[in-house]
Amino acid sequence: MTRYIDTIDLQRLVKTIGAEVFIAQLARYIEADFRRWPDFDTCPRIAHHSDEGVIELMPISDGHYYGFKYVNGHPRNTRFDMLTVMAFGALARVDSGLPVLLSELTLTTALRTAATSALVAQVLARPDAKIMALIGNGAQSEFQLLAFHTLLNIDTFHLYDTDPAATDKLLSNLGGHPGLHLIRAASAREATEGADIITTVTADKNHATILTPDMIRPGMHVNAVGGDCPGKTELHPDILGMATVFVEFEAQTRIEGELQQMPADFAVTELWEVLAGVRPGRISADEITVFDSVGFALEDFSALRYVLDQSERYGIGNAIDLVPAPSDPKNLFQLLA
Ligand SMILES: NC(=O)c1ccc[n+]([C@@H]2O[C@H](COP(=O)([O-])OP(=O)(O)OC[C@H]3O[C@@H](n4cnc5c(N)ncnc54)[C@H](O)[C@@H]3O)[C@@H](O)[C@H]2O)c1
Repeated sequence: MTRYIDTIDLQRLVKTIGAEVFIAQLARYIEADFRRWPDFDTCPRIAHHSDEGVIELMPISDGHYYGFKYVNGHPRNTRFDMLTVMAFGALARVDSGLPVLLSELTLTTALRTAATSALVAQVLARPDAKIMALIGNGAQSEFQLLAFHTLLNIDTFHLYDTDPAATDKLLSNLGGHPGLHLIRAASAREATEGADIITTVTADKNHATILTPDMIRPGMHVNAVGGDCPGKTELHPDILGMATVFVEFEAQTRIEGELQQMPADFAVTELWEVLAGVRPGRISADEITVFDSVGFALEDFSALRYVLDQSERYGIGNAIDLVPAPSDPKNLFQLLA
């Protein structure tokens, strides 16, 4: 039997555990998997592009389990009352190929992206960081905000979106949350003033310039989440030249990340090297660090592992007959008799 987690199950699971605890625990699963990076058989995701967006498959295996995610990115979808990013995925045993989990991954993607962003900022942002600019207040934004509050104790957020209704929605979702100071900014520039960390999480299938070099000050950490496919970036390329740049998986980020704007020999550090202690993260209080996030299959693999463990622990989800189990495995036809 395969465990099936639909959107309602995932909502129940997050409500049972608590969103902040869920993100914090998931961050530890992601960290543990990045630390054993050499165990994984990795490849850049397989993308099908159209004028409207992209549909991607993201496979990975650690030799024991094989996981994949199906995910889209359609920035114009919200005009038609559909999400920009929607996803589902599965985890299977490598020794038999048996699928053990089929799960929703839309909510889970928002949770794992936020957990990854905050995990990375734990090793790259200045330890005294207190204020974050959050530019792009759409579907991913509350998750990012909660992750930075939970994992880094960030309590003041400067919010900006070109669509004021998106910021209204964020304020209505989290405005009453204890310990948070949420301040609406009139522009991206105003949002970055006084910030220690900048998160960009906008959606536009374009080479947008959300941040320019004059908005960046020594010691800042930039968490660039929205530029995650060919032709779609958020940072002026000179910002990368001023910074030390960290990526999930260089081969994929060169195609999809802010890095697509830079020469092929532009030096970057892979995240696993920092988490495994092979290379340093931030080395001085004045250094500018950039996490060029595109979302890598390993993070979804960790999320699928976490969801499977927690759904078993709390008895949430259903066992389904995703694949048949005939009494005689050579007689598949008996199922139709
Ligand atoms: N790196 C990752 O792992 C990862 C994971 C999930 C999503 N993403 C990406 O993050 C982005 C946001 O996803 P979402 O689900 O929140 O999308 P969304 O459409 O719900 O929200 C995007 C927001 O960006 C705003 N925006 C667009 N241009 C802007 C600009 N110039 N300045 C300020 N705000 C602007 C829009 O008004 C909208 O509110 C997408 O590009 C998505 O592909 C990346």
